[in-house]
Amino acid sequence: MTASDQTQAANQMWGGRFAEGPDAIMTAINASIGFDKRLYAQDIAGSRAHAAMLAATGILNPTDADAIGEGLLTVLSEIEAGRFDFRADREDIHMNVEARLTEIVGEAGKRLHTARSRNDQVAVDFRLWVRDQCDAAIAGLTALMRAFVAQAAAGADWVMPGFTHLQTAQPVTWGHHMMAYVEMFARDRARFVDARARMNECPLGAAALAGTSFAIDREMTAAALGFDRPTANSLDSVSDRDFALEFLSAASICAMHLSRFAEELVIWSSAQFRFVRLSDRWTTGSSIMPQKKNPDAAELLRAKLGRILGATVALFTVMKGLPLTYSKDMQEDKEQAFDAADSLMLGLAAMTGMVGDMTANREALRAAAASGFSTATDLADWLVRRLGLPFREAHHVTGTLVAMAEKKGVDLPGLTLAEMQSVHAGITDEIFDVLGVENSVNSRMSYGGTAPVRVREQIARWQAALG
Ligand code: ARG
Repeated sequence: MTASDQTQAANQMWGGRFAEGPDAIMTAINASIGFDKRLYAQDIAGSRAHAAMLAATGILNPTDADAIGEGLLTVLSEIEAGRFDFRADREDIHMNVEARLTEIVGEAGKRLHTARSRNDQVAVDFRLWVRDQCDAAIAGLTALMRAFVAQAAAGADWVMPGFTHLQTAQPVTWGHHMMAYVEMFARDRARFVDARARMNECPLGAAALAGTSFAIDREMTAAALGFDRPTANSLDSVSDRDFALEFLSAASICAMHLSRFAEELVIWSSAQFRFVRLSDRWTTGSSIMPQKKNPDAAELLRAKLGRILGATVALFTVMKGLPLTYSKDMQEDKEQAFDAADSLMLGLAAMTGMVGDMTANREALRAAAASGFSTATDLADWLVRRLGLPFREAHHVTGTLVAMAEKKGVDLPGLTLAEMQSVHAGITDEIFDVLGVENSVNSRMSYGGTAPVRVREQIARWQAALG
């Protein structure tokens, strides 16, 4: 092999000091193009902003800068038309784009990487991508919240059992239950909004790690890419992945919330509960049991947290203990984050569809609310309020009445006044007013309580906020 053959076999981008090219397995483990090609639009936008800045600061002549800007658009259209040859020997999206650019525009392409490194380049690309995912999550959550508010408004005063330990606890309203999820998803949305604001600083211009000796204008590239400002420390700029960790953490919490409602849907849509009917659009049949209508979308949503949290733990583990600044470990930041974001967006869309389409069974909800001694607390509260019993004593009297009703095979309103008076002589027939489920929910007027008037206030507040 001649010296020049050997140089050709080495990497075109960084192979100057290398006599040999990489082992095939080295190429396989080193290349990220298989997944980071997904960052092509961000990479090209970053490069275009960088080239325009190099021209504006006189670092690059305007002719070369124009050729680069145009050439990058050609690369973009090739990729979007599916005509781009992604090459593993060019490692990653950055070198694939730059090498192709140079094929198209010649010498000028080789000047693009002035005052830049792949370290700040990948940091800016990934940040732009994660920022877009925050926007998508915010939009997805807004749509989901609207779907829950619409469900709440349709049945603000419908009575259903509220559970603790999945045992009947107290009657609540359907609207109240739906609005509980609006609160959860609102906090999730706020986490993405916060994370987005914090990550919106531009690392481009940090170069490899130390900044650059060229008189670049970082304010200009930051503004061109929609960032609020450039990052303030070049070492941090190329090392930081906590923007992605924040996104993944917020995504995990959100997926956990999705899984909780998914589980409620699985329970509620069963023949034993019949609280809701899921539409045909969000269920599947069984190939053997003709009667089946399975809540597959809900079950998958219940499971999605597994991979989203998995991606979160994976990135924490990659980043833990890495010394400053960039290490190749950090190339492992992207693949699972992509998967987690895809899973989250799909999950949000599926849940929005399912919630929009589901039908609550008002009669089944009410019947369930009126069973299981759900108004026992109302009875105890009456004993406190009207007879002045200490709550603990009222609790005991009520417990005795529940046991009596259970033995008789009725719910609390099925006991006679005489039976009640045998447990506590002071009880009057006024007690029957508080044993009804409507009365129970109407009485829970405390701020944030389940009374329909309170629920309607919350619905109105959110309808105004969500537009
Ligand atoms: N493909 C790399 C990554 O995703 C890009 C940065 C490479 N930088 C370097 N110095 N090798 O992290």
